[in-house]
Amino acid sequence: MRSEKICQNAQYTFKYNSSMGRHGWLRLTPAYSVRLVEEILSDLEYSPQCVLEPFSGTGTTELVCANKGVSSFALEINPFLVWLGNAKLKMYSSQKIEEFLRVAEFIAEKIESYTPSELPPIYNIHRWWGKAQADFLAKLKTAIKTVEDNEMQQLLAVAFCRIVIELSNAAFNHVSTSFKETDDSIFSIEVGKDTFLSVCNMVACGASMQPLVSSKVIHHDARSIPEQYNGTYDTVITSPPYPNRISYIRELRPYMYWTDFLETSDQASELDWQTIGGTWGKATSLLSTWESEGSLPHYVYDIAKQIASADNKSAGLMANYVMKYFEDMRLHLSAVYNGLKSKGKVFYIIGNSNFYGVTVPAERIYVDLMRDIGFDKPEYRIVRKRNCNKQLYEFVVTAQKA
Ligand SMILES: C[S@@+](CC[C@H](N)C(=O)[O-])C[C@H]1O[C@@H](n2cnc3c(N)ncnc32)[C@H](O)[C@@H]1O
Repeated sequence: MRSEKICQNAQYTFKYNSSMGRHGWLRLTPAYSVRLVEEILSDLEYSPQCVLEPFSGTGTTELVCANKGVSSFALEINPFLVWLGNAKLKMYSSQKIEEFLRVAEFIAEKIESYTPSELPPIYNIHRWWGKAQADFLAKLKTAIKTVEDNEMQQLLAVAFCRIVIELSNAAFNHVSTSFKETDDSIFSIEVGKDTFLSVCNMVACGASMQPLVSSKVIHHDARSIPEQYNGTYDTVITSPPYPNRISYIRELRPYMYWTDFLETSDQASELDWQTIGGTWGKATSLLSTWESEGSLPHYVYDIAKQIASADNKSAGLMANYVMKYFEDMRLHLSAVYNGLKSKGKVFYIIGNSNFYGVTVPAERIYVDLMRDIGFDKPEYRIVRKRNCNKQLYEFVVTAQKA
């Protein structure tokens, strides 16, 4: 069978990612562990009818569910991630996958004949991609735009995003982006073509591993649940943003600009403000005048006061950040509770955080918020210790609806 051949022949060297199928298409910092979702699903003492993932990110939860034949749907606020999640969940026929590889070869062969698209408006772009690499990407972008078939264009766009990383001087997957020295001499059109074709093979290999059931990602703010989905789900498995100031928009900017999901820095900044836990760009000034609704357990406000009194010019801002994060999560948890079927269970993978030596015990706050909202038996357990600091852990917080 062609699909098996694609897998065996995949020359792509990222063996681990390839073996992860579609999960390995684009590994982004927000992604959590496939195994964790599999374990949660297999430990359930009931067969879930429908799983909700309210913070889809790269689509891990719903792809695991779809691969196991479990119905699910997901919400996500970032349109780029909505697109990526849906591309990962699609069923691609083997004929379509073969066509995709043929088109990829055609594009690689003709790459020099395409007029380069305009470079994305990324500040100091040649720190990210040397001139030759950026020109290659700009030609590839034009080439992909000429493909009319939607599904094929989607697979090519996934490969394109991967190439955007492969050809970059930036060290991705790190909170503070760092850059290697640009060395144009190690890049040639031939290297670009080979990388592109290897990535397309890896994407084709994942595409040939079809999910057992369909699922979808809906563009929606998880502070509410779309009306028509209330009462449809009996399980929630998710990892929301942590209260640790990681900005997914900041990290995803390169892909979002290259794929035209972002056109200006104002758009990036506006989107970051809409996300739970966004503190980047415009969010910084909006947070400074933000006012609390007072809907949290009062020890959370005591923690915020301790943060605010730290000897740091951003201390007040960080205190507002923490309060707003949990007030937003309270809105979200209430909405989830209202739409959850009776006896349904929720699983939140979250991390605690620390500001100027003050610990924010996210696990305890989630448990208290859930109890306050009406969930039964909220509790947490440690999943793992996070490497960077001994005091930082990842937890799973669980609860049930009576
Ligand atoms: C930790 S990541 C999720 C990771 C995901 N489990 C995965 O494996 O890729 C959190 C996600 O929540 C999204 N998000 C933040 N605020 C949101 C909101 N208000 N509504 C929906 N999604 C939101 C972010 O864009 C980000 O993709």
